[in-house]
Amino acid sequence: MENRRKRIAIFASGRGSNAAKIMEHFSDNVHGEVVLVCSNRSDAGVLDLAQAHSIPSFTFNRTEFNEGEAVIERLKIERVDLVVLAGFLWKIPERMIEEFPLGIVNIHPSLLPKFGGHGMYGMHVHKAVIEAGESHSGITIHLVDDLYDHGARLFQARVRVEPNDTAEQLAARVLELEHRYYPKVIEGLCRL
Ligand code: GRF
Repeated sequence: MENRRKRIAIFASGRGSNAAKIMEHFSDNVHGEVVLVCSNRSDAGVLDLAQAHSIPSFTFNRTEFNEGEAVIERLKIERVDLVVLAGFLWKIPERMIEEFPLGIVNIHPSLLPKFGGHGMYGMHVHKAVIEAGESHSGITIHLVDDLYDHGARLFQARVRVEPNDTAEQLAARVLELEHRYYPKVIEGLCRL
C-alpha cells in the first residue's frame, strides 16, 4: 500500500471512549485520519464526539447494515482504507470484510481465544474471567473475520487479576490498556 495518510472509519455502538482516544490520536497524524464515524444507534455518545472533532457521522439500522449497500457505499465514497471497530456489537457481514484492503480491526477486553465469542462483551467478560479464577486478563486487537472474536490476532497486552478484584475494577484496568494501545496498533496498520 502506498505511503499516504490512510483513511479510517470508526464503528461504535456505545459510550465511545476508545473512539475518543482514536480521534484524538489521529487528529494530527501523518499516517492516518478519521474520516467517518458510523453507528447503529442514533443516541450513541460517539456521534457527539465525532461532531466535536468535525468528523462526519452516519447511522444505520440492522436491515441497512446486513442487507443493503448504503453502508458499504458510504465507506467507498469516503475512500476508507481501514475500518476500526470500537465497541461495535453487530457481526460484520462478509461482503464488508472483503471490501477493505487493510482489513477490519477489532478490540476485545480479554486475552483471546479465552472469554470471546457470542455473548462475551462488556461486564460479562470480566465476570467470567474472575469466576474462572484467571491470574491475568488483558486486551486483544485482532483482524475481523466471519466469526465473533476469531480473526488473526495482532496484539495482546496483559494485566494481573488481583485477588479481590470486582468485575468493575478489572474492567477499568483493562480499559486503560485499550486506550493506551489501540491507537498505536491502528497507526501501525496505517503505516503498512
Ligand atoms: C471495549 O471494552 C472494547 O474492548 C469492546 O467494547 C468496549 C467499548 O468501550 N469491544 P468504549 O465504547 O470504547 O468505551
